[in-house]
Amino acid sequence: MIERTLIVIKPDGVRRGLIGAIISRFENKGFKIVDLKMFRMTRKQAEEFYAPHVGKHFYEELISFITSGPVVAAILEGPSSISVVRKMIGSTNPLEAAPGTIRGDYGLAITENLIHASDSVENFIRESKIIFS
Ligand code: CMP
Repeated sequence: MIERTLIVIKPDGVRRGLIGAIISRFENKGFKIVDLKMFRMTRKQAEEFYAPHVGKHFYEELISFITSGPVVAAILEGPSSISVVRKMIGSTNPLEAAPGTIRGDYGLAITENLIHASDSVENFIRESKIIFS
């Protein structure tokens, strides 16, 4: 099924000059980029974005990291994009992410884990509203 998903290249990915390397993986795979934006998340946007994580021990760290510099958000379209893109980014903890995945190839830290991708249609709708409207 053709569907859309949202990716956010986090401040570490932008700072490290990995925007092109990351975006090109999705283009090479065949996904269409239907929207693309570079911006700095406000605290309010970050709190809405990470609302499902309120109360977790890493929540404050998450908010201060995601607002620490510019991010690049994109909406990708293609077959089963939500699950395929999640596979391409790899496990949340880069130490456990398989080689060949983005986190497996470029990351070593769980907070600075380079990229976020929506994990469901509901979260795609919720997250893309926060970022693109
Ligand atoms: P992300 O896919 O953006 O969704 C929530 C983020 O919380 C996740 O990536 C990680 O960066 C972060 N995260 C998840 N679990 C932990 C944890 N145990 N400790 C620190 N950060 C975490």
